[in-house]
Amino acid sequence: MVETRIIKVDPLNVDEDALRLCASVIRRGGLVAFPTETVYGLGADAYNPRAVRRIFEAKQRPADNPLIVHIASFDQLYEVAAEIPKRIEGFLRRVWPGPLTVILRRSDRVPDVVTAGLDTVAVRMPAHPVAQKLIEFSGVPIAAPSANLSGRPSPTTAQHVIEDLWGRVDVIIDAGETIFGVESTIIDVLTDPPVLLRPGPYPVEKLRELLGKDIVVPGFARGLGEAEKALSPGVKYRHYAPRTPLILVELEGYGDPKRVADAVRMVVEAEGRGRRVAILASEETAPLYRGLGVRVVVLGPRRDMYRVARNLFKALRELDTMGVDLAVAEGFEERGLGLAVMNRLRKASTRILRL
Ligand code: TXA
Ligand code: MG
Repeated sequence: MVETRIIKVDPLNVDEDALRLCASVIRRGGLVAFPTETVYGLGADAYNPRAVRRIFEAKQRPADNPLIVHIASFDQLYEVAAEIPKRIEGFLRRVWPGPLTVILRRSDRVPDVVTAGLDTVAVRMPAHPVAQKLIEFSGVPIAAPSANLSGRPSPTTAQHVIEDLWGRVDVIIDAGETIFGVESTIIDVLTDPPVLLRPGPYPVEKLRELLGKDIVVPGFARGLGEAEKALSPGVKYRHYAPRTPLILVELEGYGDPKRVADAVRMVVEAEGRGRRVAILASEETAPLYRGLGVRVVVLGPRRDMYRVARNLFKALRELDTMGVDLAVAEGFEERGLGLAVMNRLRKASTRILRL
């Protein structure tokens, strides 16, 4: 056990002294959980292998799953990446800072433990003011996975981090809820065409437009099987999982709320006999479950998938506190943020029913 300190920071009026203190913890080899615009990260000095090893211990993360290196400037990009394809550089200047991670060739400065021995490195420049200041004041890039215990839903509040990592990290910065609520989009730009490794807040449709190129979306990026063939080491592990068994109901289309609700009701009636059930629903369908005797958790409206994404991990954690035996989730259209939502739901579920 280590002594964990919570430091509260207002994201709209950042207390620089407080962040200098957090940065000194990073520089001394400590672990600091910090907010980004996607989810909370668990950070350490990316150039300090001993500090980075502590991240893996605290999270109980398998050592073959590499970390993302977070930077605050393009100077730091040239430190951690060996070579940046010319056409990618202009693209990165347009999308960063933001919720996008790219896979590049790594430089010798990045220790093996960060990349799990790969010759590539995942890099991202976050847009959250607290993350930016923490990296800037630390004076080094910060290696950080999401600040959850391995396998649990990623944390979107400091409270989630406390639940998972209390007594395992030195500092938890509490700056309220994160903005997007799902982890960054990851693309591998070393191949031509680039490959989507994980969908996130930056929709792949938008990235194609900015790159002026196709981006391949493999099955595993949609959260479908094929784990062994995965290019990104992290995708082979079960993720985001609530302890409550979760059935995901997928349909051909989701345009008609009544059809969606009918399918979910059918599953609840078939599987829920004598069990307490919760439904993860959309705003449009939630009223249609009245009288079914189930708990309903509303993720958000289908027409605004940003809100659905933002509430998703909180809802998955909430399931475990509701005293239910089974959860049933509605599927969503795989467009825009819907692709990120479906990737997380598929990985979080114990069963997928295609109706
Ligand atoms: O939004 C985010 O990306 C958050 C915040 C904290 O920045 N971080 C995050 O980290 O989600 P993590 O560790 O939970 O997910 C990183 C993913 C893993 O699936 C890992 O396998 C993959 O990135 N990854 C890291 N380095 C890689 C590499 N060199 N090649 C392919 N995949 C890599
Ligand atoms: Mg993670």
